[in-house]
Amino acid sequence: MIDLRSDTVTRPTDAMRRAIATAEVHDALIDIDPTVDRLEKMTAEILDKEAAIFMPSGSMTNQIAIRLHCDRGTEFLCDDNSHVYNYEQAAFAQLSGVVARTVASRHGVIEPEQFRPLIRPQNLHFVRTRLVCLENTHNRAGGRVFPQNKVVEICDWAHQNGLVTHVDGARLWNAAVASGLSEAELARPFDSVSVCFSKGLGAPVGSILAGPRDFIAEAHRTRKLFGGAMRQAGILAAGAIHALQFHRDRLATDHEHAQRLGELICQCAPLSVIGGPIETNIVAVAIDPDWGTAAAFVTALKSAGLDCFAIGPQAIRLVTHFDISAAQIERAGEILRDVAESTALPTPTAVSP
Ligand SMILES: Cc1ncc(COP(=O)(O)O)c(C=O)c1O
Repeated sequence: MIDLRSDTVTRPTDAMRRAIATAEVHDALIDIDPTVDRLEKMTAEILDKEAAIFMPSGSMTNQIAIRLHCDRGTEFLCDDNSHVYNYEQAAFAQLSGVVARTVASRHGVIEPEQFRPLIRPQNLHFVRTRLVCLENTHNRAGGRVFPQNKVVEICDWAHQNGLVTHVDGARLWNAAVASGLSEAELARPFDSVSVCFSKGLGAPVGSILAGPRDFIAEAHRTRKLFGGAMRQAGILAAGAIHALQFHRDRLATDHEHAQRLGELICQCAPLSVIGGPIETNIVAVAIDPDWGTAAAFVTALKSAGLDCFAIGPQAIRLVTHFDISAAQIERAGEILRDVAESTALPTPTAVSP
């Protein structure tokens, strides 16, 4: 099975497993775990933020950022197609009493003008607007890199108007490789940044929230409150350190594979790539309704040996990653073509009276 469901399906390499097995560890709540400490310092330096904190997941880093930036009963602005809004069970509401006001993005990009009218006036009737949250790269928009000039304009506007800014950078590493800008440059306009090691970087577990020192000190308290404080977590941090050291540059290969997949998809009449040029490792594909539904297409692909997810009634998503070779991309192209040329589902047989 060629598994293009997500870049989270990667398994640790032998070298990463060795790094994990030999990690120096300690109780991180009573004292300091030296490997976690090293990962936090390394990542803070890469992102050029004062401090960083290791957490089990990207959902936790995002939700703790929102909780700390927004008081109970306040509002944050985000993309209607974003991960924080769609895939984290509205934890900002459930756990922190915060409300989201969404903005419709175009292929993962929001224009600065779209935000401008959204700050609520100071008035007894209105909730207070506190935070702008962006996503880079954008998962549901096919791995789109948020153009940095627009990021700067949005964050400048937010800061001038008393708002704070957070970026869900689960795949900021991919954005850096694709844009040629460093992770620090991409993170600079934001007050806080969340990054994941368990996606394209291929570590089994872990995310970092980075930002100002006092903000991260508070995040330590909230991580405990959310049940995310871990003891000998150096075991996990060692995988993340290995990923940072050895797996960042190779993301370019995943991007080349996604480009090639895009070329092969363009040769299949019922399929078209959604959202313009492929920039990173995610390919969102529209299925012509004349062929059938995305769900039927996914089922047919799976029985032919290619696994992927439907992300809408007529859309699927293919994600390239560490465990996928160039040869598998070619084979995936053949499977996509064969399925695209086949008939959707056997037409239901008429029931005899
Ligand atoms: C853009 C984005 N943000 C956050 C997350 C959440 O990460 P986790 O699964 O570690 O909670 C994901 C997961 O796929 C993601 O794609």
